[in-house]
Amino acid sequence: MRKLTYFIACSIDGFIADPKGDWQFFMPFVDEEYLDFLKAEYPETLATHGRQALGIDELANRRFDTVIQGRVSYDLALDMGVTSPYAHLREYVASRGLDESPDPNVTVVGDDVLGKVRELKAEDGELGIYLCGGSQLAGALIDEVDELVIKTYPVVLGSGMPMFGSGFDVAEFALDSVRSFENGVLVRTYSRKR
Ligand SMILES: NC(=O)c1ccc[n+]([C@@H]2O[C@H](COP(=O)([O-])OP(=O)(O)OC[C@H]3O[C@@H](n4cnc5c(N)ncnc54)[C@H](OP(=O)(O)O)[C@@H]3O)[C@@H](O)[C@H]2O)c1
Repeated sequence: MRKLTYFIACSIDGFIADPKGDWQFFMPFVDEEYLDFLKAEYPETLATHGRQALGIDELANRRFDTVIQGRVSYDLALDMGVTSPYAHLREYVASRGLDESPDPNVTVVGDDVLGKVRELKAEDGELGIYLCGGSQLAGALIDEVDELVIKTYPVVLGSGMPMFGSGFDVAEFALDSVRSFENGVLVRTYSRKR
């Protein structure tokens, strides 16, 4: 069984973006020490254009071979003219509105996202599935999330997009690791208790 991992950047108070979806205020924390960690441990979570700019586009995937994101998150790439933001992974975009995929590497999943994720998790393979966000899609898939990698940036926002856009329920996770950085960023990894 492959894992679905929600790998996400958030504020101290648990918001993944401001109320309108902007998260550029997290970027100043991507300094040399922290970027070195991302390149070494999670290179496939860096978008293709970022990998190309860093000269690391040839790095092998370490943990994931597949990514799924919501249509609003995917729109951020489309707005930059990028149709395959994670070209080094199999890409799925959840959308009921997108009729056809703008890129051969991207599959649009409309009717049964939960079923598709269960199908992907049931595949053989060493590498897992990267749930990229945003809030709405994570809320829809919350029951299927097996692992959390939460990159907490040292800012408080007061309001914004929650990590999971879902109703109230208690889901327990066990803390696997904590890594802290000089600039105050914290990366915590949790496994789902089933
Ligand atoms: N901090 C981070 O690390 C991080 C990472 C990723 C994204 N983000 C932020 O998250 C924001 C977007 O989050 P969001 O919650 O507004 O949107 P989202 O989850 O990215 O996308 C929502 C869209 O996905 C589709 N969708 C969601 N659930 C579905 C389901 N069960 N079945 C079929 N389609 C489904 C729908 O598309 P249709 O409307 O086309 O049907 C829906 O409008 C972005 O602005 C970005 O800034 C932050």
